[in-house]
Amino acid sequence: MNASTEQRGYQSGFGNEFASEALPGALPAHRNSPQRPAYGLYAEQLSGTAFSAPRSQNRRAWLYRIRPAAMHGAFERIGNGRIVSRFDRIDDIPTPPNQLRWDPLPLPPADMPTDFIDGWFTMAGNGSPETQNGNAIHLYAANRPMGKRFFYCADGELLIVPQQGRLHIATEFGIIDIAPQEIAVMPRGVRFRVDLPDGAARGYICENYGALLRLPDLGVIGANGLAHARDFLTPHAAYEDREGDFTLTAKFGGNLWSARIGHSPLDVVAWHGNYAPCKYDLRNFSPVGSIGNDHPDPSIFLVLHAPSDTPGVDTLDFVVFPPRWLVAEDTFRPPWFHRNVASEFMGLIHGCYDAKSEGFTPGGASLHNCMSGHGPDAATFDKASSADTRTPHKIEHTMAFMFETRHLICPTGQALASAQLQPDYQACWNGLQKHFNPEQQ
Ligand SMILES: [Fe+2]
Repeated sequence: MNASTEQRGYQSGFGNEFASEALPGALPAHRNSPQRPAYGLYAEQLSGTAFSAPRSQNRRAWLYRIRPAAMHGAFERIGNGRIVSRFDRIDDIPTPPNQLRWDPLPLPPADMPTDFIDGWFTMAGNGSPETQNGNAIHLYAANRPMGKRFFYCADGELLIVPQQGRLHIATEFGIIDIAPQEIAVMPRGVRFRVDLPDGAARGYICENYGALLRLPDLGVIGANGLAHARDFLTPHAAYEDREGDFTLTAKFGGNLWSARIGHSPLDVVAWHGNYAPCKYDLRNFSPVGSIGNDHPDPSIFLVLHAPSDTPGVDTLDFVVFPPRWLVAEDTFRPPWFHRNVASEFMGLIHGCYDAKSEGFTPGGASLHNCMSGHGPDAATFDKASSADTRTPHKIEHTMAFMFETRHLICPTGQALASAQLQPDYQACWNGLQKHFNPEQQ
């Protein structure tokens, strides 16, 4: 039989207890694992946290599916392509303290068919899948749909940030459509297939090995602001009842593995729980900032974070720099010069970033590691230093983001050797003039 249900919209909230069924009555009313689920379905639990994690952090879902996830052939190793999951070889590939910046990854040529998984290019990372700590930062560039291939990542949760081209993501939980300026969070283990409505697509992926991403506490900001839970959208159940010759690819233990599977694994007819994929439109972010003088640290732009076992210190912060008003008086308004204990990987989805007048282009990336000085380039400094701060200024037509981590972000050998690495990034600060004059206050 070959049948599938249509997309049926989204449910609102982040990490909520959702419930959805594609056939009426498919969801058991008062049992997680009834003796005989409706429609001859199998009941299966997918756990995203330890069984005994505190209730406030416990994440799991119950799936009611045509066949259990255990049904497939044996996995065999396939090539990892340009995916890297080892970042601890500091003797082999020393991580330089240099500020680094890359031009965008080119789309694959038409004669090189590349699906969403083939198109990953690991830029940097830290920690490892085995230790369940740290993260990997990949770019992706693809030009063909996954077709009969399905994928899941056992190593980490995927934060997908499209920069060019829409993604149609069919998952076990339903269908997610995202476009640039939207993101998707794909939980560890969830099986999915990506089609490319625009024919080609490019973007960024952060593979989070650590604690699950969550919305940050807001502290003195109060109950509102930044990313609102209701703007996160989780799909309704939609299933495929398809048999055929398919492939299931897994990223497991840092390597890619592939197994034959005789049916679509996207065969979940109903599900409930709080462990499910979702999407979020970055344009819905509600920025908070200074309305007097100075401006707060960039943590004020936090969308999602993965906390560590040290309070206030995260293994991953996902920060966004959206369009916003700058109103602070007698203040240097762009991001100031700084050095951080954290390490910062930035990407640009759209437009221009306010601290860099040129060289940081949509699809590009920069890396400023722990205690490496950085800040506005010379042109931006000169312009901002002489700007009239008695009037507001709106930053428009921009969407930049940052993956910030407590650990060093170690670039891969292929990223350091890539043709996209800019050899003269430091030159953007070399034009800064000496203004010091002890005779003039
Ligand atoms: Fe920075």
